[in-house]
Amino acid sequence: MTRHFLSLMDCTPKELRMLVERAVTLKAILRRREPHEYLRGSSLALIFEKSSTRTRVSFEAGITQLGGNSMFLAPAELQLGRGEPLEDTARVISRMVNAIVIRTHEHAKLAAFAAHSQVPVINALTDRFHPCQLLADMQTYFEHRGDIAGRTVAWIGDGNNVCQSWINAARQFAFTLRIATPSGYGPDAEILSAAGDAARLVATPEEAATGADLVVTDTWASMGQESEKEVRARAFRGFCVDTHLMEIAAPDALFMHCLPAYRGVEVAADVIDGPRSVVWDEAENRLHAQKALLEFLLG
Ligand code: CP
Ligand code: NVA
Repeated sequence: MTRHFLSLMDCTPKELRMLVERAVTLKAILRRREPHEYLRGSSLALIFEKSSTRTRVSFEAGITQLGGNSMFLAPAELQLGRGEPLEDTARVISRMVNAIVIRTHEHAKLAAFAAHSQVPVINALTDRFHPCQLLADMQTYFEHRGDIAGRTVAWIGDGNNVCQSWINAARQFAFTLRIATPSGYGPDAEILSAAGDAARLVATPEEAATGADLVVTDTWASMGQESEKEVRARAFRGFCVDTHLMEIAAPDALFMHCLPAYRGVEVAADVIDGPRSVVWDEAENRLHAQKALLEFLLG
């Protein structure tokens, strides 16, 4: 059966740990400039309905470093944009390439595409999840602080796609996630309750941050929510990750953000540009973690 990567729940905890370890190894191989064309001749199609810097560049560079090639397909330039059914597009493209990376709005669209694809489909972000981001985030935590199992992570901000992937990560990597969001902006109730004790909502950003080993946030207005920007800015007042919140976290607490970030909005400049921020490692690790994922799915 074809394996897809639509959410972190598509892998076992053991497989996810193996991916993180392999990402660390692939990073070292690249640093030593050793050839590692383990996927020579493989083709990767990227279909992106939303903007991207990190995800696109990391997949394109990653498959090239592994000896394969990529093609970036803007939906408007495909027959998809003229009404060819998604299912037909999946059937056709999957007969020609070795894996397909998709960034879209509705998660159901991604699932429908995967159901008709003969080759692995990778979620490059939907409105529901962003699992590739979490592979890189887990790698980053492991590199800086060791095993995340048993640690406490604070999510402060919007209960969005990235937050929902953090909930799945808490289940799969056995850490505790404390989530502080303004009321009405929490994560999906089903995703949260499926995580049991691993993730819970707390009343205030302070309650989430106190003693936390890691503080994480994301933009308050995700792609597709641009028109809500002002309303959200008002609703999220008090949720900016600032030095006060970092000071009440554990003394060696790290700060993460998937980027793009908006300084002075969801995070203070002196936090994201400060000594506890690991956002640039996080961004770089998208490359290594996704190379590990490509090897796992295609190797
Ligand atoms: N974090 C992330 O996925 O960034 P891009 O939107 O630039 O790909
Ligand atoms: N939550 C953000 C993440 C961007 C990488 C969005 O969906 O726009």
